[in-house]
Amino acid sequence: MPETTSVHPGDASPANALRPLDRDVSLSDVRRPVEAELDHFRRYFRAAMRTDVGLLDRVVQYVLRQKGKRIRPVLVLLSAKVCGGITETSYRGAALVELLHTATLIHDDVVDDAERRRGLFSINALWKNKIAVLLGDFLLSRGLLLALEHRDYALLHTVSDAVRRMSEGELLQIEKTRHLDIDEPTYFRIISDKTASLIAACTTCGAISATDDEDEIARLRTIGEKLGLAFQIRDDLFDFGVQDVGKPLGIDLQEKKMTLPLIHALREADDAERRRILKIVRQKKKSRADVRAVSAFVERHGGIDYARRRMTELAREAHALMTTFPPTEARDALMDLAVYIIQRKK
Ligand code: IPE
Ligand code: MG
Ligand code: MG
Repeated sequence: MPETTSVHPGDASPANALRPLDRDVSLSDVRRPVEAELDHFRRYFRAAMRTDVGLLDRVVQYVLRQKGKRIRPVLVLLSAKVCGGITETSYRGAALVELLHTATLIHDDVVDDAERRRGLFSINALWKNKIAVLLGDFLLSRGLLLALEHRDYALLHTVSDAVRRMSEGELLQIEKTRHLDIDEPTYFRIISDKTASLIAACTTCGAISATDDEDEIARLRTIGEKLGLAFQIRDDLFDFGVQDVGKPLGIDLQEKKMTLPLIHALREADDAERRRILKIVRQKKKSRADVRAVSAFVERHGGIDYARRRMTELAREAHALMTTFPPTEARDALMDLAVYIIQRKK
């Protein structure tokens, strides 16, 4: 990774210096302190999806084969551990967020007409939109009922609010792709709503499940928010082929989605060049040469570096907040997760 992801010597507190941002961190390292609990979670999650409707069950079994990274459940469990310990409520929180996350991905693939998800065919590609929409609704309702059955109102409130923000964020993004008038504050509002809200719900639910200390819960929520923003900037960088991720490039661009690297480059460019690039972005179909031209423009105006810098700043801020918790294995794993999020390859 380039220089932008290393910790500046000046601002490295002793704890940060122990966990620099430019190391390679694998997800299995991050999961280690909650490995046994994750096994329990997997059974819990599977049970939460049970249904006696044959067709639904077949699709559910397929969803369980599409292996996600399970970052959100890991965040819930680690946050609970940092706040005193994993409880039965923590498992429900983890299942709740993963159910809602899965539902929104299934709906997102319908919205985007996406053919693949997690290395396999999407639900809409195999069973068509009707089934995908209904399956998403089923998973949403399973999550909500799971919380209600146990009167986990605090979890329910936290996660429902995140789902509302996710829908609003997606819709704001659609509105902005129509006018191409997105500036940096609007970009941050969109990614805060569509992505960070659920990641913040994970750290919040984990904390709520383990402690009543409002201050600790608030700090974990802020940590989640910062991690979520960094997570989405990383995702948006994929679109510019920053790392060889095996993901097709320029998808966001094809959809006229303007993300931070492009927003920054447009801000730096002169009027003539800005008009030339916006004309390409506005086109319905973009050739590979078009996509390359925009990528080169973004690179030339430091858009990639800028987005990386903002992402790294957010991870560093999350780290600084994590150092306010006692140094335990779970706390360190949470710090490692911040590192993983900004240097992940998928
Ligand atoms: C994908 O989230 C949706 C975004 C917010 C970018 P993940 O990358 O965590 O998806 P899975 O669960 O690992 O498939
Ligand atoms: Mg989408
Ligand atoms: Mg994306």
